[in-house]
Amino acid sequence: MSEQFLTRTRELIHKKILAEISPDSLIDQAMRYSVLSDSKTIRPALVLASGELNNNLTKNSLITLATAIELIHTYSLIHDDLPCMDDDDIRRGKESSHIKFGEANAILAGDALHDLAFEIISTDKDMNDASKIKAVNILANASGAKGMVLGQHLDIESEKSKENIDLKSMKKIHTLKTGKLIKAAVEMGQIESSLNKAEINMLLEFGSKIGLAFQIFDDILDETGETSELGKRAKSDQKNNKQTYVKVVGIDESAKIANKLLDESINLIDELRVRDKIEPLKSLAKFMVNRKS
Ligand code: IPE
Ligand code: IPE
Ligand code: MG
Ligand code: MG
Ligand code: MG
Repeated sequence: MSEQFLTRTRELIHKKILAEISPDSLIDQAMRYSVLSDSKTIRPALVLASGELNNNLTKNSLITLATAIELIHTYSLIHDDLPCMDDDDIRRGKESSHIKFGEANAILAGDALHDLAFEIISTDKDMNDASKIKAVNILANASGAKGMVLGQHLDIESEKSKENIDLKSMKKIHTLKTGKLIKAAVEMGQIESSLNKAEINMLLEFGSKIGLAFQIFDDILDETGETSELGKRAKSDQKNNKQTYVKVVGIDESAKIANKLLDESINLIDELRVRDKIEPLKSLAKFMVNRKS
């Protein structure tokens, strides 16, 4: 179920990306190289699955929002792999952007993907101006200095720590660097929502929990997975002396925490009045903590 949903999502957003990025310059090519490569497209799928519960956004606008979040996420990965950050040479089964195009071009391609996300929201044909502003606000807030960027900063700082950090600090890093953008995916699907406030809050709580669980599982995969299957270097966290859930509480406890968050997230959406439409969200949530890469 989630496999099909993810494949369909990938097709839809790739079509839009191909239309939006004409490969004129080397930067355009570098943008396409990373964003059209083998992504699971979890965040865009969450936008579309959340949007299935909302009668007020058109399919076209949902695809715009789904594409925008994938552009932001891909920019964050290009920068995350740079030598000054995680120094990783493989991403999505291919050479990382800076290996293929050089550091300066990788930074610029990341910058340009970030900008394009906001550009495509601003030029969406169906959303009204208030909805576009809302979308920009959700995305900017989740990815900026109060969100992903802050999480990335704390993550890099944590490498210097000689002792394990406490679980509360660990949770903060993961919530910021990954959780907030995943929650934003769910939230963007509820722009102009036909659901009531309490229901939207339940969905947001679902997004927070599954977002944190997703990054905890990423820590587990980094430790237990193979480079060939992950499409990125295994044991990168160890190499960088990262603080991760695996380092702080071990693999078994990390898996327990991730599965507890999954259960809680599913219980939340099971409460919704529109529960006949939650199957895609539910199966994506399960996939997010039982994935192979
Ligand atoms: C990798 O994200 C970085 C994290 C926040 C864990 P994904 O696991 O979603 O990577 P892609 O987009 O499928 O390549
Ligand atoms: C990255 O976390 C989160 C981002 C905001 C990009 P990781 O550094 O663990 O992601 P991977 O393992 O390199 O994909
Ligand atoms: Mg990192
Ligand atoms: Mg990394
Ligand atoms: Mg990782």
